[in-house]
Amino acid sequence: MVRKIIFDTDTGVDDTMALFFGLASPELEFVGITTVYGNTDIDQCTLNSLRVIEEAGKPDIPVARGTGHPLVVETTLGGRAAHHVDGLGGAGHKFGPPKGKPIKASAAQFIVDMVMASPGEITLVPVGPLTNIALALRLEPRIVENVKEVIIMGGGITLGNVTPVAEANIHNDPHAANIVFSAGWPLTMVGLDATEQVIMDPDYLNALYGIGNKAANFIREIVPFYQGVFQHPKYRGGICVHDSSAIACAIDKSLFTIERMPVYVETEGHCKGFTVPDRYKRWEDSTEIDVCVGVDSERYLKLYRERISTYQ
Ligand code: BDR
Ligand code: CA
Repeated sequence: MVRKIIFDTDTGVDDTMALFFGLASPELEFVGITTVYGNTDIDQCTLNSLRVIEEAGKPDIPVARGTGHPLVVETTLGGRAAHHVDGLGGAGHKFGPPKGKPIKASAAQFIVDMVMASPGEITLVPVGPLTNIALALRLEPRIVENVKEVIIMGGGITLGNVTPVAEANIHNDPHAANIVFSAGWPLTMVGLDATEQVIMDPDYLNALYGIGNKAANFIREIVPFYQGVFQHPKYRGGICVHDSSAIACAIDKSLFTIERMPVYVETEGHCKGFTVPDRYKRWEDSTEIDVCVGVDSERYLKLYRERISTYQ
């Protein structure tokens, strides 16, 4: 059965790669895209989303602009160091401005309207800070019972990327993450534990660029700047495509090894943004969720390449 998704994104480089992947996947139907600040500011993330759906030949997907700020903490838009100010690795100008515009509804309102109009049918796939999702929960708490599932890219129970323990999306708005993690809905966390296991190394990337269609050419332009932040030898000169992992999980959960456990989000202090695995349920305020702890990287990378090949 086709899964209807709302993709909530801070459209940077890996978000764009995830969009091209998802939009070419017959298992998924994008009922909408909602945008959030994160990799860069909200205006740019919204423009990028519109630009990518046009490039992917799907200009009619509604794009709802979301919030530009976290609930409580300040954002420094530190993601620009990896994604550039334009969120597209400095290559955005090569593609020109999008023709489309965002719809009138805010991201949070759009999420509420869509979920409540189709009970049990919509899967939320947030791959940025979780602010829009927390705002939607505030607007209409009954989305908890009416959503099909929530599959997020964010967090990590064994490592962080912006601090030793925190992953960027959770660190950007830990209070929103805390609300989303403790809501009690079916939540799958595709965090760094899994996403860091999938590496597109230079050979893989060259083969991908070699496909030479619209999607591959777009990806070829935006990746090199992003590649610069993956300096550690464990990345073998390549990149992690975090957000595509949430799409892969929405397409086929059997790609992942999943463990169910309580996870608590730290909102304050030195460990702000840490998604703490509370395996022995010591804290009353930890909620059980599904955590992706492993992934069949070979099958995933093959699927990604196949889907990118389907563009003209
Ligand atoms: C996450 O942070 C963002 O920079 C990426 O787009 C991804 O969603 C990885 O930590
Ligand atoms: Ca993202």
